[in-house]
Amino acid sequence: MGRSYSIAVVPGDGVGPEVVQEGLKVLKAVSEVEGFALEPVLYPFGGEHYLRTGETLPDGALREMAGMNAIYLGAIGHPEVEPGLLEREILLRIRFELDLYINLRPVELLPGVETPLRGKGPEDIDFVVVRENTEGLYVGIGGCLRKGTADEVAVQESVQTRRGVERCVRYAFELCRRRNKKRRLTLCAKNNVLRYASGLWDRVFREVAPEYPDIKTDYAHVDAVCMWMVKNPEMFDVIVTENMFGDIITDLGAAIQGGMGVAASGNIHPGRVSMFEPIHGSSPKHAGKGVANPLAAIIAGAMMLRELGEGPASERVMRAVRRATSEDLWGMGAGEMGYSTSEVGHLVVRYASDEGGS
Ligand code: IPM
Ligand code: MG
Repeated sequence: MGRSYSIAVVPGDGVGPEVVQEGLKVLKAVSEVEGFALEPVLYPFGGEHYLRTGETLPDGALREMAGMNAIYLGAIGHPEVEPGLLEREILLRIRFELDLYINLRPVELLPGVETPLRGKGPEDIDFVVVRENTEGLYVGIGGCLRKGTADEVAVQESVQTRRGVERCVRYAFELCRRRNKKRRLTLCAKNNVLRYASGLWDRVFREVAPEYPDIKTDYAHVDAVCMWMVKNPEMFDVIVTENMFGDIITDLGAAIQGGMGVAASGNIHPGRVSMFEPIHGSSPKHAGKGVANPLAAIIAGAMMLRELGEGPASERVMRAVRRATSEDLWGMGAGEMGYSTSEVGHLVVRYASDEGGS
């Protein structure tokens, strides 16, 4: 029996379905060349579905997804749905209930892609952010008192657990070793102010570090990380950080790597079902026009292949993406590629197939 993977596909809203279609086209093409099978199972969840049925993510569907090999998601978000509802009940619920404790976000400037950082090139912008994905402010603990009055009080707690911090820090050390580039792991926190929350990260980081004598360790406050990402991105190799800091610095990361059109992510529980998605949202104003850049979704697909153990197929997709960015695409923004969404998908398919079998 050949290798075969069941993939839960959630195209979602706005440009989600268009970019996911290109991603699936690429995945299908490389699976044929590399000799494995993908069985996509389509799920309709997102804003449209919610407005039609009142349903966000039924328990049964989540259970089904938990039994598959991976989840491939486009974008969730709809202008007519109360902000935050779909995010909480679909995206964050999948991350939390499947315990996808790593949010892996590569910040890599691909050849031919323009960065807003003057004088910086692909050799300077090549790092990965390991964002904790199940704790912090995202757990939703808190409340308000005397709501709507002049004396209102709002509290939102950031939860950090030793177990949660430690597994994330260990993942980051392992990744840094596997990448085998600068072998430098930077802890991004704010231990001058958040004595307890960042203090725990700091202690765990120091405790684990001696097990990785081959990895240089470094510490930077989150505000300084933002500054260095702009001034000296070449100092970073792997950055590990808690959930909210990771959310914020990876939008900056997306900006310096050429924008949301090329920024991809994996929500990972090593060895279990994991979810892969472009970082961009549903972008309703670009939907249905064939102008969205599918590369972020395609790169998310390459990350999924890597996690499934299909390293050569993943590399094949990335070589094809690099060829398209360096030889063909004009820009990375929606409507700026010089090609339509499906033409970009087609280019990647052609380059990925051109090379022949590996
Ligand atoms: C992200 C997004 C999400 C987050 C939103 C949509 C809930 O910004 O994946 O970075 O905050 O994690
Ligand atoms: Mg974000």
